[in-house]
Amino acid sequence: MAVLNILRYPDSRLHKIAAPVTVFDEQLKKLVRDMADTMYAAPGIGLAATQIDVHRQVIVVDVSDRRNSLVVLVNPTIVESTGLSDIEEGCLSVPAIYELVERAERVKVRAYDQNGNSFTLEAQGLLSVCIQHEIDHLQGKVFVEYLSQLKQQRVRAKLAKQLRKSA
Ligand code: NI
Repeated sequence: MAVLNILRYPDSRLHKIAAPVTVFDEQLKKLVRDMADTMYAAPGIGLAATQIDVHRQVIVVDVSDRRNSLVVLVNPTIVESTGLSDIEEGCLSVPAIYELVERAERVKVRAYDQNGNSFTLEAQGLLSVCIQHEIDHLQGKVFVEYLSQLKQQRVRAKLAKQLRKSA
């Protein structure tokens, strides 16, 4: 089991664009295992490779109460989205900040599993929001960047205060 360090906003490495995975090998399986370990240990409901400074298109998600429904998405693409969700979101890279972001209520996602098999997943509610949030990470986007400038300033001030407290 390997629990990796999670980058914290505003770290510029969170803005790197992840490259598609082209080789489905043991190294990828290890990455997925480490990401799942890191997400469960945090604890969180989703993690993108970007957040552990690996810039490949891999995300792990588990929104189940029992923490036993791991979803692994490699090279995910949203092919359909409908409706409007009203779920506040948070992020392991932005501790203790929860904000409402405009997201689709339902998405259809095409992706590969860690063995290279392609599949389509239909998600709604929390799972849908979580997947959209993690795909944003792969594109270098952190959810607070959807907020107004004023709110973003407040978030940065709050995070700086958290850091000073923990120092
Ligand atoms: Ni996040």
